Amino acid sequence: MVSETVVSANDLILPLFLLEKPSSAIEIASMPGIYRLGVESMLNEIEECLKLGISSFDIFPVVEEHHKDKTATKSYDLNFFYLTALKRIKQEFPEACIMTDVAMDPYSSDGHDGLVDEIGNILNDGSLEILGKMALALADTGIDIIGPSDMMDGRVGYLREELDLNNFTDVSIMSYTAKYASGFYGPFRDALDSAPKSGDKKTYQMDPANQREALIEADLDVEEGADFLMVKPALSYLDVIKLLKDNHDLPIAAYNVSGEYSMVCAAAEKGWLDKKQVMNEVLLSIKRAGADIILTYYAKEFAKSTL
Ligand code: PBG
Repeated sequence: MVSETVVSANDLILPLFLLEKPSSAIEIASMPGIYRLGVESMLNEIEECLKLGISSFDIFPVVEEHHKDKTATKSYDLNFFYLTALKRIKQEFPEACIMTDVAMDPYSSDGHDGLVDEIGNILNDGSLEILGKMALALADTGIDIIGPSDMMDGRVGYLREELDLNNFTDVSIMSYTAKYASGFYGPFRDALDSAPKSGDKKTYQMDPANQREALIEADLDVEEGADFLMVKPALSYLDVIKLLKDNHDLPIAAYNVSGEYSMVCAAAEKGWLDKKQVMNEVLLSIKRAGADIILTYYAKEFAKSTL
């Protein structure tokens, strides 16, 4: 009766990893209990989750090396397995809310979120054009939300305009507003095989030392037409979640990232802590800090535990 915060399955988005081979299912070594799935297996997984009360999914493609190039061409090839699978998923489960990332890294031979020049610099404006094509191809599949995770400047406004000009006015933008250059993404990059081939992401992702910069990013995103503001990672940035919540009226999302999940699993496997208790505490703390929505690998497990 006196609990100030309640987490429900309705608040959660489950990230999923899509493989090209339709019926495969391969566990991610650094993320126990989380699988890369082919489209057939993913349809089953989504059906199960919907029954448990999880209705939102963020689907990432696992792209084989031979499909990757400098300009992420496959990201807007309408025949590519990821785009055809998204279409099928939306057809079979129109009631599911499907979100997809907009960033070049899964398709880029450089492993960066943007376009890389000969000397290793990221080309902000050249990247926007590619991200625009990607967003339109994604919107064409019928998905509901795009999540620009690339952190290029001006991309929310650019993508909003591209979507609107092409009659995709109903596709929402969940902006990765304050996405930090974090060590907590390690297991995700294992899952996608998407680590940068050289350099790091510090020239476009945020400095973990900064809080006020998140307000600048949030103001820009609101002005450019974002529908949600996201903070990522979540646990080391609870202050940033609170800051955005206190200063903006848009829904605030937080991404409880791969490394945050893996740390708990690893300690639980050693018997050093109780996974279920810690899962509940982690999700509660993110919501208490001000997140309305949590992207989390715990989503299914949480939903099961509340039955
Ligand atoms: C790619 C992207 C990343 C994550 C989501 N989208 C990794 C990165 O920026 O290197 C991380 C998610 C996680 O760690 O769970 N733009």
